[in-house]
Amino acid sequence: MKTSRRQVLRGALGLAAASTVAPELIVAKPKTGYTHSELDDRLKSGKGLNGLTKADLTTPCLLLDLDLFEANIARMAAHAKAAKINLRPHGKTHKCPEVAHRQMKAGAIGLCVATIREAEAMATAGVKGLLVTSELVGKPKIERLLKLVRRAPDTMTVVDNLAHAQQLSEAAIAAKLKLNVMMDVDPAGRRTGVPAGEQAIKLAEQLAKLPGLKLGGIHGYSGVSAHVTGFEARRNHSTKVMTPVLETYAQLKKLGLPVEIMSGGSTGTYNIDTELSGMTELQVGSYVFMDKEYRMVGGKSGATYDDFNCALTVMGTVISKAYDDHATLDCGIKAFAKDRKFDADVKGITGVTFSAGSDEHGTLMLQNPSREIKLGDRIEFIVPHCDPNVNLYDRMYCTRGENVVEVWRTVGRYGD
Ligand SMILES: Cc1ncc(COP(=O)(O)O)c(C=O)c1O
Repeated sequence: MKTSRRQVLRGALGLAAASTVAPELIVAKPKTGYTHSELDDRLKSGKGLNGLTKADLTTPCLLLDLDLFEANIARMAAHAKAAKINLRPHGKTHKCPEVAHRQMKAGAIGLCVATIREAEAMATAGVKGLLVTSELVGKPKIERLLKLVRRAPDTMTVVDNLAHAQQLSEAAIAAKLKLNVMMDVDPAGRRTGVPAGEQAIKLAEQLAKLPGLKLGGIHGYSGVSAHVTGFEARRNHSTKVMTPVLETYAQLKKLGLPVEIMSGGSTGTYNIDTELSGMTELQVGSYVFMDKEYRMVGGKSGATYDDFNCALTVMGTVISKAYDDHATLDCGIKAFAKDRKFDADVKGITGVTFSAGSDEHGTLMLQNPSREIKLGDRIEFIVPHCDPNVNLYDRMYCTRGENVVEVWRTVGRYGD
C-alpha cells in the first residue's frame, strides 16, 4: 500500500491516522530529514531554502562554507593581481560551474579541466577559456573535443606526441576547424608531457607546421612539487624542475614560435612559481576548498599550510554511542575518497581521531574530546584529498554559519 506524504508526516509527529489536527501542525517542518530530492523539489517549486539549517540535511553530505570559500577566492585573486600573472584555475577540484563563475568574476581568464566530460559540462554552463590538461587520445574523445570546439572555439587541449598531434590536425581539418593546442612538457612527474629541452623544441617545431593546429604555448605542471613538505624544500623543488621547462619556453620564443602561454603551478607552489621568470598563468586548483593533505605540507610561516581556509567538509551523524571511548558515525569509506594513507580531520573538536573504516560506518575515538559527543550529533570532517572527494557527491550544500543558503551541483563526475 502506498503511503502518502501526509500520512508519513502524521506518523513522524505521532498523530493518529484519523485524528483532526490543525493543518499548520500537519505541515510543520520536521527538524531533520530532507532527502536530496525533497530539497530539489523545494527549490524547483520556488520555495527556496529559507530557514534550512545544517540540521535539516541528510548525512553524509558535502558542505561548503561560503565565507571561507569566498576568502580563498579573494586571496588567490589578489595574489595573481599583485604578481601580474593570469589565473586559469583548475576545475578538476570542484567540478562546479558556480565555483568556476565566481573564479572568473574574481578575474580568472578561463578554467582548466582534466577530462572531456568536465570540459563539456563547463562549456554548457557558459565557462569560457577552457584548457583541457590531459591528452584526449582516441577517436571517441577527439570527436567529442571537436564537437566541443564548435560551440566553445577558444578551448585548448594538450599534446605531447607527434602521432597524436597529426590525428588531431587531420580531424580538425576534416571538421573545418582549427584546434588550439598547448605542448605538454613534463617538469618532473613522468605522468604526461615531453621532456624539456631538445625533444620539446623539436616537437614544438613539428606542431607549429601542422595545418589543423594552432600552437599557443606550453603546459608544464609539476604535481610532484605541489606537495613537497616545507616551504623552502618546495620552493627548491619547483624551481629546479620548472627551470628547464621555462628555458624551453624562452628558447621557443627566440626561435619565433608562436608560444604565448606558459601555464603551470599549483596551490602548493602558487607563491613560488610566480617568482619564476616566464610563467604567464597559474592553474591552481585545491585552494578553493583545501584539504588535510595540503594543510600538512607546511606554509611560509609554519608547519601548517594555512594560506587558504578549509572550506569544504563532509558532515556525518553519530548513529551509535554504546561505549564511552568511541562513537560510530554514518560516514565511512563511501563518504570519503580513500586514496591517502590518513583519514579525515574532525573540524572544531580536539582530543578525538577519526577512522572511516567500514563501508557506511566511521569510528570516532574519544581520547580526550573537547566537547561531549552524543547520539545524533552532526560532525564535520576536513577531507584528506578534496578533488576525488568532490567526485563522490552530486552537490554541495553551501552554508553561512548554521544556515544552508544554496545548493550547487557538481558536474562531469565519473558516472555522470
Ligand atoms: C594538470 C593539473 N594542473 C593543476 C592542478 C591543480 O593542483 P592543486 O590542486 O594542487 O592546486 C592539478 C591537480 O591535480 C593538475 O592535475
